[in-house]
Amino acid sequence: MLVSAKDMLTKAKKGHYAVGQFNINNLEWTRAILETSEELKSPVILGVSEGAGKYMCGFKTVTAMVTEMVNYLNITVPVALHLDHGTYEGTKACIEAGFSSVMFDGSHYPIDENIAKTKEFVEITKAKGISLEAEVGSIGGEEDGVIGAGECADPNECKMIADLGVTMLAAGIGNIHGKYPANWKGLSFETLDAIQKLTGDMPLVLHGGTGIPDDMIKKAISLGVSKINVNTECQLAFAAATRKYIEEGKDLEGKGYDPRKLLKPGFEAIKATVKEKMELFGSVGKA
Ligand code: 13P
Repeated sequence: MLVSAKDMLTKAKKGHYAVGQFNINNLEWTRAILETSEELKSPVILGVSEGAGKYMCGFKTVTAMVTEMVNYLNITVPVALHLDHGTYEGTKACIEAGFSSVMFDGSHYPIDENIAKTKEFVEITKAKGISLEAEVGSIGGEEDGVIGAGECADPNECKMIADLGVTMLAAGIGNIHGKYPANWKGLSFETLDAIQKLTGDMPLVLHGGTGIPDDMIKKAISLGVSKINVNTECQLAFAAATRKYIEEGKDLEGKGYDPRKLLKPGFEAIKATVKEKMELFGSVGKA
C-alpha cells in the first residue's frame, strides 16, 4: 500500500534524519529503489516528474505499476508515490490518478497567487489524506523542462505558505538541480536557519541532492531538512555502468544483448547510489 509522506517526515524531523526522494523513470528504476529501501529498512519517497509520468504512459500507469510492484516484492517499508514539481493541472491529475503525495510548485507565481493556489491543494489533499509539498523561491537549474533561477527564498514568505497547512516545504537556499557548477557558492545555511526558526516543526525539503558535499547535507539535516531529493545522481550511475558494460563488449558475448542482462549493471548502480544516500541521510533502520 502507498502511504502519505506525512508520518515518515514528522518522524524524520523529530529524529534528525532525512528521508530520500528518488525519482523514477521506468520499471528497473522503481524496482532498484524499492528493493534497496526494503533491504535497509528505510522509508522512501518515489518521485515522478511530469515528464517522467508522460514517459511511463501517464500517472495512472505509474500508480498501477508502483502499487503492484510493492505487492509483488512484499515491500513492508513505508512508500510514498509523489509528484515532483507539479503544475496546477498536473497536481490535479496525480491526485486523481491515486498518488499518495504531491508537490504543487507555485514558486514561479507571484507570492499571492502561489498562496491562493497552494491553499486550494491544502483542502483537496487533506480531504484525501495525502501529503502536499509546496515551494517558495525557485530551485536553480533545469529538471525535465522546469527551469529555476536558484534564488534564496524569503523566510517570511516560507512562513506564509507553511501556515496554510502544507505537509512539507521546499525552499530555495542556493540549491540547483543537476550537476553543480565549479563556482557554486554552496548552500545558504543562514537562509535555512531563518526559515526553520519561522516554520518550527515543518519538515523542510532540499531539492537538487546530487553533488552536494556530505558535510553540507549533514548540516542541512541538523537545520531542519527532513526530505532530500535525488535524481541526477542515479541517472549518472546508471549511465556509467551501462557504458562500461557496452564498452567492455559484454553485449556481444553470448546472450549479453538480452535487456535483462544489459540493464543489470545500471540497475545495481542505482541500488548502490540509493544505499549510499540512505546511509548519509540517516534513514536506514527507520522504517
Ligand atoms: P538532482 O537531479 O540534482 O538530484 O535534483 C533532484 C530533485 O531535486 C528533484 O526534484
